[in-house]
Amino acid sequence: LEIIILLELLVLVLLNKKCTENCFQLQKMSSIYTNSQTKFTIYEVLHFAIYTVLWHPESVQHIQQNKEVHLYVNGSDVNKVKDLLNNAKIHNEVQIDDVQELIAKQIYNISNHPRDIAGSRSHYENYHPLEEIFSWMSEITGKNPHLLQQILIGSSSEKRPLYVLKLSVKGVTPKAAIWIDCGIHAREWISPAFCQWFLGYAVEHYQSDPDLSAILNKLEFYVLPVMNVDGYEYTRTTDRMWRKNRSQHEGNFCKGTDLNRNFDAGWCGAGASSDPCAQTYCGPFPESEPEVRAVADFIRKNKESIKGYISIHSYSQMVLFPYSYKTERAKDHRELMVLAKKASDAIRVGYQNKFGFGPGAETIYLAPGGSDDWAYDLGIKYSFTLELQDRGRYGFLLPPYLIRAACLEAYLTVKIIALHIVEKT
Ligand code: ARG
Ligand code: ZN
Repeated sequence: LEIIILLELLVLVLLNKKCTENCFQLQKMSSIYTNSQTKFTIYEVLHFAIYTVLWHPESVQHIQQNKEVHLYVNGSDVNKVKDLLNNAKIHNEVQIDDVQELIAKQIYNISNHPRDIAGSRSHYENYHPLEEIFSWMSEITGKNPHLLQQILIGSSSEKRPLYVLKLSVKGVTPKAAIWIDCGIHAREWISPAFCQWFLGYAVEHYQSDPDLSAILNKLEFYVLPVMNVDGYEYTRTTDRMWRKNRSQHEGNFCKGTDLNRNFDAGWCGAGASSDPCAQTYCGPFPESEPEVRAVADFIRKNKESIKGYISIHSYSQMVLFPYSYKTERAKDHRELMVLAKKASDAIRVGYQNKFGFGPGAETIYLAPGGSDDWAYDLGIKYSFTLELQDRGRYGFLLPPYLIRAACLEAYLTVKIIALHIVEKT
């Protein structure tokens, strides 16, 4: 099935602009089906001679007729396939002329500036290597012992530590907790940036932002700034477009499991792949990945207090809730829908930006093994996945100047969910 569908992916188009050698371009296109002869030709060319990375949707299975597809292609390969693809008469445009230039912008500040101190604006409005995120964690925890505590919850498959920062005002006895994780997917850099921004904001404004004060008077947060630490590091050093973790399972030809397909919720059903080389590989069994196991164990251990689960991803601007592994509606569908709509409305009014919302399976596609569905079935009613900015203009390469806007929108959503939990528990 995978292979047949792969043919359709490859019927997608690119056009050449200024980026031609040793650079990549992002193509945006409408996917359409063509006859099998064309498919085969294109499949052959792309599969054997062209390196491409699918940005959107994240799996070839989810490419749909007349829906946009975002594909990352080496500029030097463009001419080779351009004619072929144009013959298939598929509308296409170059979204990003020079991907390398944007990547450089995303890492510019790190190499050129001395390391920023925790709490400074420039720290939160830039992307950081893992090592800097780790030292930021100790700095911010050290400076704010009345608010933060660093908890080691496990380690990754390459043995990097997995730290959760617990945000809880000293002296307050919280009636519930909210879990937030960032960086399940390696290339979604805005996500770890949000977890850091959120904690930085909380530490700075927990007394001056009245909503936040009200929330922290009743709730505590567990924040995992980078869940897929190995993958994140890999996107910094080797492959900016990597999505999965970096585990190597015996007998597998490729490395990496999609951590958001590895949770025990409709595990490896339709919408995930059992091919270890696929972007959405579900792993050899549920919770096979140490990162997933650590998170699941921690949440299970604290499930009496955790009333909210929020997973931060990008891109596409959406507020999603269960289910994603099945098309049936969740027991709390109405309440979650009202809450998701409220967040989407608030973002539109406050920031003139559009966020879609709804259950994952209906809003995007079937995607089993996800953390939100797993948390929901464990009994955490307020379970959400947020897809932050943007909607494809820059995709995973969101420039640093947009970090603040993306975080403000996400924060507004977290606030709305948290205030609802305060009210309901
Ligand atoms: N883009 C996310 C993913 O593919 C969506 C997650 C929605 N939730 C889910 N359980 N699939 O992982
Ligand atoms: Zn993601």
